[in-house]
Amino acid sequence: MEKLTPKKIVRELDKYIIGQSSAKRSVAIALRNRWRRQQVDEPLREEISPNNIILIGSTGVGKTEISRRLATLVNAPFVKVEASKFTEVGYVGRDVESMIRDLIEVSVKQVRSESEAKVIGKALRNANERILEILFPTGEKESISEEAINRQDRTRKKMKDRLENGDFESRIIKIKAKSKSMPMLQVMGPLGMDDMSSNIQDMLSSVMPSKKKTQRMKVSEAREIFSEEEAEKLIDMDDVIRVAIDRVEQSGFIFLDEIDKIAGQGGGSSPDVSREGVQRDILPIVEGSTVSTKYGQVKTDHILFIAAGAFHVSKPSDLIPELQGRFPIRVELDNLSQSDFVKILTKPKNALLKQYEALLQAEGVTLEFNKDAINEIAKIATELNDTMENIGARRLHTVLTSLLDDILFDLPDKKITEISINKKMVQKKLSNLSEDEDLRRYIL
Ligand SMILES: Nc1ncnc2c1ncn2[C@@H]1O[C@H](COP(=O)(O)OP(=O)(O)OP(=O)(O)O)[C@@H](O)[C@H]1O
Ligand SMILES: [Mg+2]
Repeated sequence: MEKLTPKKIVRELDKYIIGQSSAKRSVAIALRNRWRRQQVDEPLREEISPNNIILIGSTGVGKTEISRRLATLVNAPFVKVEASKFTEVGYVGRDVESMIRDLIEVSVKQVRSESEAKVIGKALRNANERILEILFPTGEKESISEEAINRQDRTRKKMKDRLENGDFESRIIKIKAKSKSMPMLQVMGPLGMDDMSSNIQDMLSSVMPSKKKTQRMKVSEAREIFSEEEAEKLIDMDDVIRVAIDRVEQSGFIFLDEIDKIAGQGGGSSPDVSREGVQRDILPIVEGSTVSTKYGQVKTDHILFIAAGAFHVSKPSDLIPELQGRFPIRVELDNLSQSDFVKILTKPKNALLKQYEALLQAEGVTLEFNKDAINEIAKIATELNDTMENIGARRLHTVLTSLLDDILFDLPDKKITEISINKKMVQKKLSNLSEDEDLRRYIL
């Protein structure tokens, strides 16, 4: 994180997301501020609250994409929740605190795999020792002569070298291990009680002794099981949990998607009540409270929230004032233009055209789009967004699937090795669709 300066964060995001520079800027600053805060001494540090952000923008302009990329960038625990899910039927019991429990779960996994990486070398060595002992058990040492012991040691050393060399990988051995397919205990709860039943399941599985069974398997498989067991012995779980909780409290962040769906406009009708109810439920978590999880108490005061919504119907000012106050930074995302579409098709590391090129490569076919074809695709996508519903960059997906439909179906039967798409082909394939309004509506 120390090296992840705001500019660097933006540069990384630029690899995947076209435009939207002010949104990128804000999230970069907010993230960096977390790190800056951690450098501040107590008691001032406690006073510095996170820069929660609301990203406002139409559908398909990159809100979720930004947060997704952000998460892979920073080594911080992160979860994405749809705020609207808390308004669903069966909301009672679908408690909002579950997002903190999910977050801590992510953090524990993260810290655990980091500690695992630290001990994996030793765990593997221990696992190999155990396998060696099964393959070539050491006898009783006291009864035999010194010479015999020396000889035994030498053979053992040789065997160990061969084992490490991979000579015995497919040999079958018998080991005692926890049975892989643990009988899952189903706890059925009433609708909407899934969080609770999973808690009960956790409780039960930690109480019930896990049975070890003798199993036959390849050395290579046994090593996997043993090294996991050995790693478990070497890792101090209390330590992991302590670090994981600290990380959530100091640098965790939550992406609260579709926040506009819980912004109801006044009124006393029932859906609004439930929306406002959800806002009131979320409020304490955003404001800072203590949530109990199965790993212990987690303070939410400094968790960063990035909310997002299209806000077509409602406005951020329709949120309850307390919640508005907790999201001081509002950023509007731009609608995407035709030239943005051209870039989205070609520039990002995971650009759509690159994806299709790779897919066809699997059939041994080189797919190529010339410049005019790409412009034409972008133009058609823009027109469709203008005349029908504006679904942003998602339109590119539907346009491309229609465009490439025949090609994708005919391969590999058609014996060709090269396809190059030009403007004419795009027009031909898509114009009969774009003339027939009804057809267009269904397909594109
Ligand atoms: N600015 C952009 N740059 C590159 N790709 C983009 C951009 N905006 C959208 N996309 C592409 O479009 C898809 C949809 O974008 P995303 O999921 O971010 O939409 P959203 O803004 O969250 O919309 P919604 O309000 O419907 O949730 C993404 O998978 C991404 O590939
Ligand atoms: Mg989204």
